[in-house]
Amino acid sequence: MKEIDGEGTLVLRVKTRPNDANKGGDIFGGWLMSQIDIAGAIAAAECAKGPVVTVAVKDLKFIQPLFIYDIASFYTKVTRVGSTSVTVEVEVFAQRYQEGERPRDRVKVSDATLIYVAVSKPGQKRTIPS
Ligand SMILES: CC(C)(COP(=O)(O)OP(=O)(O)OC[C@H]1O[C@@H](n2cnc3c(N)ncnc32)[C@H](O)[C@@H]1OP(=O)(O)O)[C@@H](O)C(=O)NCCC(=O)NCCS
Repeated sequence: MKEIDGEGTLVLRVKTRPNDANKGGDIFGGWLMSQIDIAGAIAAAECAKGPVVTVAVKDLKFIQPLFIYDIASFYTKVTRVGSTSVTVEVEVFAQRYQEGERPRDRVKVSDATLIYVAVSKPGQKRTIPS
């Protein structure tokens, strides 16, 4: 995926918690997928001027681990607007953070492409206003 940092919009920042971690101390991939979906949906709903649902997730990559207390920043870029769908690229960067220390060492940990469909109610798509 093309780097969007700098071009993308920061839509979400979250500090990870011990409850989000696997036994080894890194963050559960399912937690990160959920946050990526939320970040993408924020961008898609703004673009679609109303509610959206996720229809597909493509090319989701876990590039580096995310650790407890890291600050995860989610950048989005809308790359396509169709008749009813919006395609969003999401990139996630971590600021490494140990309790009691300042955040440092920003690294890219994940990226993904997601497709959302504008809906008027669950299961009923709507045309995106131009
Ligand atoms: C989203 C939903 C309303 C789409 O209904 P549908 O009538 O099957 O829609 P279509 O097949 O006509 O696709 C709608 C749009 O999505 C796009 N799309 C659908 N599946 C896609 C896929 N796998 N990859 C990329 N785009 C896809 C279509 O190309 C179309 O785009 P366009 O109108 O901009 O050209 C329906 O599938 C649904 O409700 N799914 C469940 C969503 C959900 O529960 N998500 C999880 C919780 S948010």
